[in-house]
Amino acid sequence: MRMTVFGTGYLGATHAACMAELGHEVLGVDVDEAKIERLRRGEVPFYEPGLPEILRKHVDSGRLKFTTDYAEAAEFADLHFIGVGTPQRKGEFAADTTYVEDVVARLSPLLTRDAVLVGKSTVPVGTAVRLQGIADWHVRSGVRAEVVWNPEFLREGFAVKDTLTPDRIVIGLPGGEQEQSLARELVDEAYAPILESDPCPVIVTDLATSELVKVSANAFLATKISFINAVSEVCEAAGADVTVLADAIGMDPRIGRRFLGAGLGFGGGCLPKDIRAFMARAGELGADEAMTFLREVDSINMRRRERMVDLTVEACGGTLIGKTVAVLGAAFKPNSDDVRDSPALNVAGMLSLKGAQTVVFDPQALDNARALFPTLGYAESALQACDGADVVLVATEWAEFVELDPAAVAEVARGRILLDGRNCMPGDTWREAGWTYRALGRGVPVRAGSGTPARAGLVTA
Ligand code: UDX
Repeated sequence: MRMTVFGTGYLGATHAACMAELGHEVLGVDVDEAKIERLRRGEVPFYEPGLPEILRKHVDSGRLKFTTDYAEAAEFADLHFIGVGTPQRKGEFAADTTYVEDVVARLSPLLTRDAVLVGKSTVPVGTAVRLQGIADWHVRSGVRAEVVWNPEFLREGFAVKDTLTPDRIVIGLPGGEQEQSLARELVDEAYAPILESDPCPVIVTDLATSELVKVSANAFLATKISFINAVSEVCEAAGADVTVLADAIGMDPRIGRRFLGAGLGFGGGCLPKDIRAFMARAGELGADEAMTFLREVDSINMRRRERMVDLTVEACGGTLIGKTVAVLGAAFKPNSDDVRDSPALNVAGMLSLKGAQTVVFDPQALDNARALFPTLGYAESALQACDGADVVLVATEWAEFVELDPAAVAEVARGRILLDGRNCMPGDTWREAGWTYRALGRGVPVRAGSGTPARAGLVTA
C-alpha cells in the first residue's frame, strides 16, 4: 500500500520507517530540505534506538523515500498521515496548530483524486473538524479530502516498538464507529499487518473522542507522576521514603507501579505542553474548572526542579559560589537526546545562575544541550564531568550513570556527595564507598527519640 507521512520529527520519521517495515511504500515529507537530505541518505537526525536500522533498511530497499515536494506527495498516495509538531504557543498555554493547518492547506489543492488525511499529532479537541473546513475550502471541485484522527501514543526511546506493537489503535472518524468510508478502508488496510501479526484492540470512535483520548492519556500520566512527587514532598518533611511507599502502593493492581517514579518530574516535548493545552482548550469550551487541577500538577512538577537546586545548595554548605557541580544527564529522560523542557538541563541552568561551576554530561544529548544552553560547561564523559566536582548530581537515569563505580568517581571528584534526582542510584553502595547519598523524597528518619523528623535527605544515613 502507498502512503505519505508529513513531518519527519520523532513521530513522523518513526511512523514512516515503521510503515515501510510493515510492507508499505512510504514517502516522508518535510519542509526542512536539510533534514530530508539526511533522511534520504538513511541518517536519522535524532537519537532513537532501533530507528536507524529500519530506516536505512527501507531507504536501501527503495520502500521508503523522502521529499519536500507536496505535489509529488499528493500524486504518490491517497492516504496521508500528518505527524507534524503542535508546540506550546509563545506566551500562552494553548497548542500552536499552525503546522498541521499548513499541511492541510498546502496539500489539499494539489490533490487530483479523493484522499484521506489522517492526523496523528496531539491536537486540541475540535481541530480535526476545523481542518476538514480548511481541506474543503482548498480542494479542487469534485475532489474530496476526508480528515480523520489516529492519535499516536509512542514514547521516545521506545518509539519503534510502540509503533510496531501498539497497546491499542484509536481511530476517530466523523461518522464514528458506524462510518463505512474510504478513510476507514485505507486506515484499516494500513494497520492490517500489525493486526495480523500481533493483534491489539482497535477503538473506532468519533473525532472529538479520539482527539481527547490522547491528551487525557498524557494528562493522566502527568498527574500520576505529580501525585507521587507531591507525596514525596510529605515524605521529605516526615522522614519517610517515597520509593518504598511507591513500591507498596504500586502493588495494588488498581494503582500500578509504573509512572510512580518520584524525582525531578516530567519534561519533554509532550507531557508539559499537553497538560497546558488541555487546560487552555477546556477553558475555551467553558469547562475550565474541570481541568484546573492540572495547574497544580504543573506546579508540583516545576517545584521538584527548585527543590533539587535547594538540596544542592544545602549540600554545598549554603552557597554555590566557588563550587563545582557535575550534572549527569541533560536529556528529559534516558534513551533520548531530547532536551525540550528537560528537568535535568533546567536544574543545570539554575545551578549555574546561582554561581556554581556546572559541568554537564549526557551520553546522547550533549549537542542539543549545548545548542540550547551554550553557557554551561560540558564534558565528554561522566568521569570527566565529575573531575574536581564538589557534588555529583544525577538528573537523568541513564543506565551508565546507575552503573558508575563510586570508587572510580571518588578518584576524580573533590567532594563525596551524590545527589540522586531520579531515585535511580544504588544509594547503599555509594554510602558504603564513603559517599554522602541524598535523594528527592527520601528524608532519612532521625534516630529514635531525637525529636523532629529530618528534612529532605538532609541527614546522611
Ligand atoms: C509521553 C507519553 O508517555 C506517550 O504515550 C506520548 O505519546 C508522548 O508523551 P514521552 O514524552 O516520550 O512520552 O516520555 P515518557 O516516557 O512518558 O516520560 C515523560 C517524562 O516523565 C520524562 O521526563 C520522565 O523522566 C518522567 N517520568 C516518567 C517521571 O518523572 N516518573 C515516572 O515514573 C515516569
